[in-house]
Amino acid sequence: MTERITVFGAGYVGLVTGVCLAATGRDVTVLDVDPAKLESLAAGSCPFFEPGLEDLMAEANAAGRLRFAGPDTVEELSGIVIIAVGTPATAAGSADMRYIRSVVDTLEERAVPGTIAVMKSTVPPGAGARIASRLAPVGVDYVSNPEFLREGSAVKDWFETDRVVLGGSEESVARVRTLYEGIDAPVLACDITSAEMVKYAANAFLATKISFINEIAVLCDLMGANVDEVAYGIGLDARIGPAFLRPGIGYGGSCFPKDTRALDFLATLHGYDFHLLRAVIEVNARQRLLPVRALKAHFDSLEGLRVAVLGLTFKPETDDVRESPAVEIIDLLEAEGAQVVGYNPIPVALPGEVEVAEEIADAVRGADAVVLATEWAEIVRADWPALVASMKRGAFVFDGRNALDPAVIEAAGATYVGVGRPNGAGCSTGADGESR
Ligand SMILES: NC(=O)c1ccc[n+]([C@@H]2O[C@H](COP(=O)([O-])OP(=O)(O)OC[C@H]3O[C@@H](n4cnc5c(N)ncnc54)[C@H](O)[C@@H]3O)[C@@H](O)[C@H]2O)c1
Repeated sequence: MTERITVFGAGYVGLVTGVCLAATGRDVTVLDVDPAKLESLAAGSCPFFEPGLEDLMAEANAAGRLRFAGPDTVEELSGIVIIAVGTPATAAGSADMRYIRSVVDTLEERAVPGTIAVMKSTVPPGAGARIASRLAPVGVDYVSNPEFLREGSAVKDWFETDRVVLGGSEESVARVRTLYEGIDAPVLACDITSAEMVKYAANAFLATKISFINEIAVLCDLMGANVDEVAYGIGLDARIGPAFLRPGIGYGGSCFPKDTRALDFLATLHGYDFHLLRAVIEVNARQRLLPVRALKAHFDSLEGLRVAVLGLTFKPETDDVRESPAVEIIDLLEAEGAQVVGYNPIPVALPGEVEVAEEIADAVRGADAVVLATEWAEIVRADWPALVASMKRGAFVFDGRNALDPAVIEAAGATYVGVGRPNGAGCSTGADGESR
């Protein structure tokens, strides 16, 4: 017998979870407080861009396995209740638990005894144990089940996850495990706090890899080495692996920045100074300055320059611009007096008022400089000789992801600067803080 499943939150995690469970034969209700999202879902369209999700949603809808509603319309909660609401950063850097609290209030009021609350949202180690003791008196057990999917490949990640982590009592973990029947992945069953820590430690480690290679890129610039070769060389070591060793303008998105800050906050709260993590965060902030420094080194002043920023999302294949490096770089360029025009292969909702071109050629034509911020395939594979030819004389291309071929850009007549590439001298911050 499959259990009734309710998911709180129709965001990147909640909707993917609900749709994938419904597509594999479960009856699922997804609840969200956002009327615009519910309207879009009721019309069968996915409220955000995630490859493959809308098709799978159509299949689950056709099979009558998926329902969408507001949390207030549900009088009684039972079976397995998955929590996948947001935990954004507060101004202090901690995880904002207000949306979680509201769901826990609802569970306390409306869940029948025997219900299991499954936490998929990323919550600080220690939070789950407190929620569990709040829900125990009403007969609701609690399991921590952190999520590791990546936007842009979320559906694939759901079915091909590297591991399932379940923190809680043996009996409840066994019930939640049934959600993953048919998925070939190791299962770690542990206590709630360890499960929560797996998520934060994984994100902190991946962020560390990124900041590490960005530091190596600085040394490559100083010493005339090529960081791309170095990253490839160290990635061949099975103990290290090639993933997350791509130098550039740093990590962004709705997870790494907030989760690293929240872990640092938590360490400080417990009286521990997590030097390494603090350095990872600082290095990442510094990477955002690279394009601005490179443009200033080339042009002296950015006042009145037309700069095209290409790729506005925090990574390719998503429409998510939360903590996107491109958005932060646009702010920095505008603060220096540049006139910025953005381009992204799919439409995005940007904060503020930035001119966004519909075609890459329109963004680049007549520009003094280009900043490649996110390596969408369409941008990388564009006709770069033609794009450079349409720019002003003395054009400058800053490749924030080392995704372009420097020889092609330079043959077309522009100056090329990447991150830690030999002809990229001048783009990194030296150990003494001076631009090289
Ligand atoms: N986005 C990712 O790639 C990713 C990956 C792993 C883990 N996570 C974690 O998963 C959680 C959710 O992230 P997300 O990116 O899906 O967030 P999101 O912002 O895309 O979605 C959250 C949704 O929850 C809804 N919501 C808020 N309060 C609610 C309530 N009381 N009842 C019902 N719905 C409510 C919001 O309207 C929103 O639609 C976060 O803790 C995040 O850190 C995210």
